[in-house]
Amino acid sequence: MTNEAVSCQQERPLTGEPQGRLVLADSTTLLREILQTEKGTLQMAYLDPPFFTGQVFDMKVVLPTSSGKRTISLDTYDDRWPSREAYLAKMREILSGTREMLNTRGTIFVHVDPRISAHIRLLLDDLFGGSHFLNEIVWGYQTGGRSRRFFSRKHDTILFYGKTSAYYFNLSAVPSGTIGDRQNHMKRQTDETGRTYRSIFSGGREYRYYDDAPVYPGDVWSDISHLQQKDPERTGFITQKPEALLERIIRSSTQEGDLVADFFCGSGTTAVVAAKEGRRFLTADSSELAIALTDRRLAACTIQGNPPLYSVESPCIQDETRISAECIAATDGWNIRLLSFRPPRAVEIGLEDNGAVDHFAVGYLRGENFYRYRTLLGEDARDGKPVFLPAAEGIPALLVTDCFGKRRVYRHTLE
Ligand SMILES: C[S@@+](CC[C@H](N)C(=O)[O-])C[C@H]1O[C@@H](n2cnc3c(N)ncnc32)[C@H](O)[C@@H]1O
Repeated sequence: MTNEAVSCQQERPLTGEPQGRLVLADSTTLLREILQTEKGTLQMAYLDPPFFTGQVFDMKVVLPTSSGKRTISLDTYDDRWPSREAYLAKMREILSGTREMLNTRGTIFVHVDPRISAHIRLLLDDLFGGSHFLNEIVWGYQTGGRSRRFFSRKHDTILFYGKTSAYYFNLSAVPSGTIGDRQNHMKRQTDETGRTYRSIFSGGREYRYYDDAPVYPGDVWSDISHLQQKDPERTGFITQKPEALLERIIRSSTQEGDLVADFFCGSGTTAVVAAKEGRRFLTADSSELAIALTDRRLAACTIQGNPPLYSVESPCIQDETRISAECIAATDGWNIRLLSFRPPRAVEIGLEDNGAVDHFAVGYLRGENFYRYRTLLGEDARDGKPVFLPAAEGIPALLVTDCFGKRRVYRHTLE
């Protein structure tokens, strides 16, 4: 392996066509670019933008050091704006571009909080037309803090619009339980097939409500919990949304193979759920850390026994960070070992060798693109054990993503 990082623009799967794109970009810039060739290709967009909070968000990451574990804080995104007008101007550009990307049956869900929702609602009415407003979904949750100065703010608002009145929506794809789950004072009975039900008589007719019949959500969603501290889904990204929320949105508004977009992907909840649900995805974020986190979450997924197929368009950096790695020819391929990787920031905070490795992929470099065969995560990425890379076209290479979100590629020097 060369121990110097080489240049690489895009990461793609070694076999198969990518079903998803993960892009490091400011969404306004990305939308301007894709609108030239991809207008009208999008079935649904879920956007969870900064909420004009005036805060800088960070995340806590626990890393291994020579003397145990160390928690560091990393900046994720900055939600400070010169004025509300500046924020709304940016949102207008992104919402308008997203509208153009939608096909005629497409829909948009915009996730906001009660402080900014009125402004975004007016913007959406203006861009989509008030008659295409479908719902103001109230996502109510129970989290720790309580206010004594006003009623505690325990909900977000998700604004749902259709691009046209021919929008696609399938409520039957998202049952939220069965009638039998509900508290009911009516007497239970059993029919001739053994199914239990309750009934009422009205106008001389009997109406039966079977316990196993599905019920569907209305516009107040209090059955999806906020991610708890110890939730295994949690990545540490402070504004991460639960997968269950995106499942309901994606299942109700798209079909398998449809394209779903999220131009503020954060920790990648939309991409992960879209991949699991067999939808294509286009997700972007302007933060390297968010892209690295989404990449890691996607790499950890298995879909019918296989990893999801996606590309990562986030240029790798070339700096002075060197590695020690081996790439040894084996029958039908290579055995690759990452022995030591210590970017300068890792040295500064006392991380041990490989302690700053978040994940790494083995694959091939072809020109400026890296073709990923397999990604290793967590301890598997840090333990220095050999990873087999089957023979294929290109130069064997390693793509290392560090815990600060930086990506670097190192290639094998062929004799
Ligand atoms: C509220 S978070 C999204 C959280 C996400 N839904 C999740 O489940 O993790 C907002 C994200 O928008 C990103 N962001 C802010 N401005 C952006 C812009 N102009 N273009 C792309 N991403 C942006 C931030 O970096 C942040 O990751």
